[in-house]
Parts: sequence; structure tokens; C-alpha cells
Amino acid sequence: MKATDIRKSFLDFFASKNHKIVSSASLLPESPNLLFTNAGMNQFVPYFLGDQQASSSRISDTQKCIRAGGKHNDLEDVGLDTYHHTFFEMLGNWSFGDYFKKEAIEWAWELLVDVWKFPPERLYATVYKPGVGDPADFDQEAHDLWSEIFQKAGLDPSIHVVTGGKKDNFWMMGETGPCGPCSELHLDLTPNGDSGGKLVNADSHLCIEIWNLVFIQFNADKRGTFSPLGSKHVDTGMGFERVAAVIQATKQFTDFSKPASNYDTDVFSPLFQKLEEMSGMSYQSTLPNNGKPTEGQEETDVAFRVIADHLRALSFSIADGILPGNSDRNYVLRRILRRAVRYGRTLGFTDPFFYKLVPVLVDQMGEFFPELTERKELIEKTLRSEEESFNKTLDRGIELFSRETKGMEAGQALSGKFAFKLYDTFGFPIDLTELMARERGLTIDHQEFEAQMDAQRKRARKAHKSVDILVSESSDCADSTIFTGYDLSCLNDFSATCIDWIEQEDKKYLVLDQSPFYAEMGGQMSDTGTAHFEGTSLKVKHVAKDSNGRFLHQVDGHSGASEVIGKAFSLTVDLAKRLAIQRHHTATHILHWALREVLGDHVRQAGSLVQQDRLRFDFSHFEAVSEEKLQTIERISNEKLLLNEQVKTYEIPFSEKPDGVIAFFGDKYGELVRVVDLGGWSQELCGGTHVQTGGEIGSIRVISESAISAGTRRLEAVAGLSAYQWTDERVNGYNQLLKRLGCQPHELDGRIDQMQGKVKNLEKQLRSIEQKGQSGIADGLINSAKERDGIKIITGKVTNLAPNDLRALTAQINKRCAPSVVLLASEKEGKCSMVCICSSQAVESGHKAGTYLAELSDKLGGKGGGKPDFAMGGAPANKGLDEALASHSLNT
Ligand code: ALA
Repeated sequence: MKATDIRKSFLDFFASKNHKIVSSASLLPESPNLLFTNAGMNQFVPYFLGDQQASSSRISDTQKCIRAGGKHNDLEDVGLDTYHHTFFEMLGNWSFGDYFKKEAIEWAWELLVDVWKFPPERLYATVYKPGVGDPADFDQEAHDLWSEIFQKAGLDPSIHVVTGGKKDNFWMMGETGPCGPCSELHLDLTPNGDSGGKLVNADSHLCIEIWNLVFIQFNADKRGTFSPLGSKHVDTGMGFERVAAVIQATKQFTDFSKPASNYDTDVFSPLFQKLEEMSGMSYQSTLPNNGKPTEGQEETDVAFRVIADHLRALSFSIADGILPGNSDRNYVLRRILRRAVRYGRTLGFTDPFFYKLVPVLVDQMGEFFPELTERKELIEKTLRSEEESFNKTLDRGIELFSRETKGMEAGQALSGKFAFKLYDTFGFPIDLTELMARERGLTIDHQEFEAQMDAQRKRARKAHKSVDILVSESSDCADSTIFTGYDLSCLNDFSATCIDWIEQEDKKYLVLDQSPFYAEMGGQMSDTGTAHFEGTSLKVKHVAKDSNGRFLHQVDGHSGASEVIGKAFSLTVDLAKRLAIQRHHTATHILHWALREVLGDHVRQAGSLVQQDRLRFDFSHFEAVSEEKLQTIERISNEKLLLNEQVKTYEIPFSEKPDGVIAFFGDKYGELVRVVDLGGWSQELCGGTHVQTGGEIGSIRVISESAISAGTRRLEAVAGLSAYQWTDERVNGYNQLLKRLGCQPHELDGRIDQMQGKVKNLEKQLRSIEQKGQSGIADGLINSAKERDGIKIITGKVTNLAPNDLRALTAQINKRCAPSVVLLASEKEGKCSMVCICSSQAVESGHKAGTYLAELSDKLGGKGGGKPDFAMGGAPANKGLDEALASHSLNT
């Protein structure tokens, strides 16, 4: 059976059991705390928790998964064995409060044994038996169901049903979330199928897990409590590549003579074929000896496996809009890509090669996963530009690594400082250095590496304005400040009570129970204004929020906690500045939308700064944005302003946020999130302040676009009055220009062409005068030539020529009067250049340019030499050049 037939057969089977077949969810998980979608059940979490109703109580699909970070991480093992992957497909079937263990177990058996013809005597089922301190009870029900099945098949349940503890038989998506006991089916792949269950969960490629049936019954929370869920659910997962491997390697279970490898299937063979074609090497399925550094064919085969695996992870991620970058999941992708590029060296690739495999993958999988076909160009371009950028430092890093590890013996540790240097200067992710070290049998001093990383983080933090110290010093007061400033009517003369006063170094901070001042957050600058109390006016220069949620208003003047704590304040925010900031914040959302419209929805915010007079927006994208596209982005943004739509903000539970609202990885969203919605087309989770309607912004001008790191671009723009001023300056400049050139706008181009033409002509004339001058000099020197044995000897000093001009002049003279020896020198800007050229006939007669030049440079205290036909050198000026030439052996 071909892999595609296996996938289809699985889905058809569950369709026949009344399951709705759905598409794979994106690799970008909904849950902001998950790096990548790592299991089929991720997209169904709200159904398990009862937060949302599923469209059908039975669902089946194949899910794209990546396990390269977090609780489930297989990255380090990829390539070294037959079955670990970063990217894989998980076939699954789900019941949401519908069927439970009996049906799940019976159907699993039916599909494997009756439909796909797995030999029952080679199957083993595991069931959950908690160890001390493990959650839940022994899974008697699953145990009995499996026992009955094996008995019916004439097999001994005491051998074929195996128990396991929390590690193997209690499944959790992450540290928290829906979970439950699981029951797995393992297949004995030993030649005689006689392992008797001893290899189950023993990390052997001769007995592998095929299918995991999870009986979701609990929700785990951060405290480690497992609370029972309202309903019971089924969540199963079968490794698609593994099933393909066992079916194909055993020729449909007729031949167990060779071990099954996921890589020996038609899932990987097209990629291997292309790699063979490109590298001239062949894939031979060898495996490295346990733990030993690989060499020869083993090394080649590891590289084939890693590259093919990593290509799938990268291509599918990019197709889902996750691009390699500098942080979080994007950095995981960059690490994976850099590993692949490094393995490319093993196959002899020194130029970008990885992206050339994309068409093969798209051909192979684009029909089932159309996003691959749609984003083919994006994937290719992204990979290529990432490869190009890493290639620039990779070889130098590898060379340094070889030098550093030369003479080291197996078991020794590479210094953490060196690993840090490779990371910091050459872009080597630590796991890549670790892998290279492992190949040499070395380890890494991780403690030292981490210390270096810490020091770097501290340096970075120091460079940032931070309010951390303030928090720790005033921890006795943890009441948070209520923000009232979304409502513009609160910005003037707002009453609040002072709850704390902090003095630190030379700064003073006022803490209030409530405040209309926006505290700097999410890239938006803080408000400024005034705080009055009892006839005193304090200037509010900046506002920050500490980790207790208290707003720290940095103020000028006044001191003494006793005078302010408990006092009533009247607060006034600088309205004009706040409005200008708001315009820039909403403009940022609009530009984010426009960027995604024009460049594609892989564009994601990577950083943002919102000020009163400009905005800066960093986003993921693999290449410079063309002038034309920037114009489109600017135009469609401004068109949106003219619609003057309302900006709506509302709070909803995170799990109910509408589709299309982007949440950022790693951001800790509370139960309730705030959505900022402009016209339904721009929806972002955002706590910032915004205009009330798009028209308030007036206009948006993009002022620059640049790279800030590989894969991350920066857009700068202005909005509102700043956009007006920016445009005004340019219009004024243009008018000035017209005035100075004395022409009308339509004449400007012609006028500039005319001026440029004139300059060109003048330059041409100048060059011809210079050339005449030089040929005059050449004539003079040729006239001064002496002849010795039929060879013209010319030596001389010319004024003020740079080395290259002197060289051209020497060559010109030599050409005109060969057979000849020409030795010229020229002093310019404190340096003396010297050139000597001997024609071929002069060389044959024994003349040596190198020797003549060395003689002259010795006399002048300079350096120089060369071959018999050509030599060049330099010396300090004013060291007696005339004398040195006169006494040169060519003249005596
Ligand atoms: N969620 C289960 C797994 O990923 C099926 O193994």
C-alpha cells in the first residue's frame, strides 16, 4: 500500500463509522503557550473542556504535527534512528462525549487486523496502571476489553496486555490541559515475532508503538491537580509515517527480515532521490552505531534523513505562516534550518540547496495539503534567503570549531565560552554546536555557556529601561491601579487618591488608586500630563506599570511621602499628545493588516513602537519589500481611512476570540482578552488606546522599510499631523527645487536630464584632457629612453599619480616601446608608489622587474617586489626619489 492509500484508508474507515472528516489544523497552535501544534487533539481542546460545542461528536483527520520543543521534543534524535521526526502526520479519531473505550478499542483492532491485516500475534496492548503518586486508577475497563479481544484471537492476554505507569500510559498535551490514561498498540517487528512483549516500551526499533488511544477524563492545572471533566472523550493518534513503514517494509506483513524504517517509504523516497541527484551520493539506509560518532556512509545517511525531515518541518511551517526568526517558535525553525544547512555540508553542498527540494515535496504532498502548493514560492524564497544568510558564517564557524577541537580527546568538554562565541558571532544555535561536538565524541560545558548567555541577557536588560527594582523595593503595597483612560472624558481633571510614593535614585514616582494615564506597554509610549494636589502641580513625565499592576507616575518636583499618601489628586493627561499616540497605534494595526494583504499572511508582528510622532513596526518577512508593494500598502491603508469606520473594543474569554484574531506566542493572556476591531477586517488582541473612527487618523505615510535581522523587516511610518508635516516638508522642498531650477513641475524631469547630460559631457572632456596629459607624460618618458642591447630602458618620476594610475601609465609606455624595461615612481599624499614592468623579450634577456623594484624600494625604505615581468611597491614620500632613481642600476 502506498502512503497516500494508507491515509485514505484510515479516513474512509472512520467515515464509515460516522465520523466527520476534517482538515488538519494549522501548525500554529491556538493555545499561545504551545510552540507548535504537537498532537491531533490540540485543535479540539475547547471541546474537551466543554467551552465549545463540536460540529460533530465524532471527528477524524490527519494532523500536521511538529515536536521540536516543549514537553514533546524529538529534534535531537532525528536522523540517528528510523522513526524520530520533527514533523509528522498524526492520524486520529475523536469522540466528544460520544463513544468511549469499548468502541475506540474495537475499531482500532478492526482497522489494524481486519482491514490492514496486521498479524494479531505480533500486537501488544498497553494499559494504564498508576505508580505511587500517579493520578487516576488502574484502567480495568481497557484491560478487560483488550483481554477479551486477544482471547478471541486465540492469544494469551497475560502476554499481550502489558501495563505501564504515568510515563508511558497517561497522556498529557503539555503540563496542563485535558489528559487521561491511554492504551497503546505496539507491533513486534522481530524476525520471528517471538519477543513475548519484552520489548514493549523498551526503546527498541524492533517493537514500536503504532497507535495511542487516549481516554480523556481530566483537566490538569498548574498546581498539578487533575480535575475530572464533565464528559469523557476519546483522542487517538497514529503515526502515519510509522504505519507506512511497517506496512511497506514488511511487504504487507509477509517479510520481517529487515527492520522497518519510516525513511524507507514513499513518504521520503522522492526527497532522497532528488538529494541523490543533487549530491551524487546515495542513500543506503545505514544507521549509526549506538552513541558512536558517525563516519562514512553512516554519516551520509544521517544527513539524508535529517535534511529530508527538516525540509518537511520547515516547508509546512512556512506554509502555515510561521517563518524562521529570532525568538520563540520562529527561532526553533531557524535552529532546525541551520542544522539542515550544516548537514548539507556532509553531502557536499556549499551553496543554498535546501530550497531546491521544495518542488519535490510540493509535488508529492501538495494535493492533500493545498497550502503547500499555494505558498510554494514563499517557502522557496524564505529557505533560500535563510540559507544564504547562514552560509556567510557557517564555514568560518566550522573552521574555528575544528581548530578549537583539534587534539581534544573523546569525552572532553568544549568550553562554554567558545560555544557562546559560535552562537553570538556565527549564528550557531547551541544544539548545532552540541551536535558537532557529539560527532567528535565531545561534550559542552553548558554551565559556562549559560553563564555567558545570562551575562548577555543582563547586558541587554541594562540597556533597557526597567522598573523591576521599583517593584521589589515597594512590595508592601500590592494594590493595582485601575486604568480609566480608555474613556476620553476621564483625561481632564480626573480625581484619584495617592496610595504610594516611591523615591529611587533621583527619581520620584506617584502611585494612584486609579489613573487615566496610559502606562508604557505593548510598544505604546506612556501618556504625560499633570497631577495637582492642594495647590501643588506635579509634572507627570512618564508612566510605567510594575508587575503588581501599579502605575508608577514619574513626577517632577515635590518630595516627602507623608505629604502625598492618602491625598486626593486631580489628573490631567496631555490630550494632544495622547490623540497623536492613538492615531499611530491604530495606524499600526492598519499597516499590519495591509502588510498581510499585500505580502501574505505569514507576516506577523515581531515588535512595535508607537509614539506621538511616528510608529515602528517589525514583522516577519524574508526579503525587502519592493517600492511598488510599499506604495500599495500605503494606498490601501489610506483607502481604509476614508471609510471612516468605527473602532470597536470589547473583552471576551480568550477561548472565544473570533477566528482571525492573532494572539502572540508566549504572551500571557488572562481569562479575558481585549479585542480591537476596525471594520471587522483588522482584529487584534491589544490593550492599547485607539482612535474612535479610522478617519481621525487623517493620513498614513510609510517613510522607510529596512532589514533588522535575517527574516525580520522594519517599517517606519507617520500618521495624523506628523504625516501632514512629513508630506509638507517634501512638498516645500519640491517647490523650492522648482524655483531654483526655474521650471514648472512638468519640465522638471527634462531639466534634470539636461543637467545630467551637461555634467556627463564635461566629465568626458575632462577625462580626455587628462588622458592627453598622461600621453604627453608618456611621450616625454619614451623620448628619454636609453637603449641597452636592443631593449629600451625607461626610468622616471611622475607627479601625483595614485598606484593604479601609475600602473596604467607604466603598462601603456611598456606596450608602446617594447622590448623595454619601464620603472616609474610617483609621490602622492605622503606616499610613493613604484611600478616596474619588463616586456617578455626583456625578461628573456634576463631583466627582472622584481629585482629592479626591490632595489628602488630598498633605497627609499619601502616595501615591494614581484615577478620578473611585473612588480609593484610602496614607500614613504620625500626620501630622495630623484637621487634613488639616478643611482639605480638601470641608470648606471
Ligand atoms: N494525543 C495522543 C498523542 O498525541 C493521541 O499521542
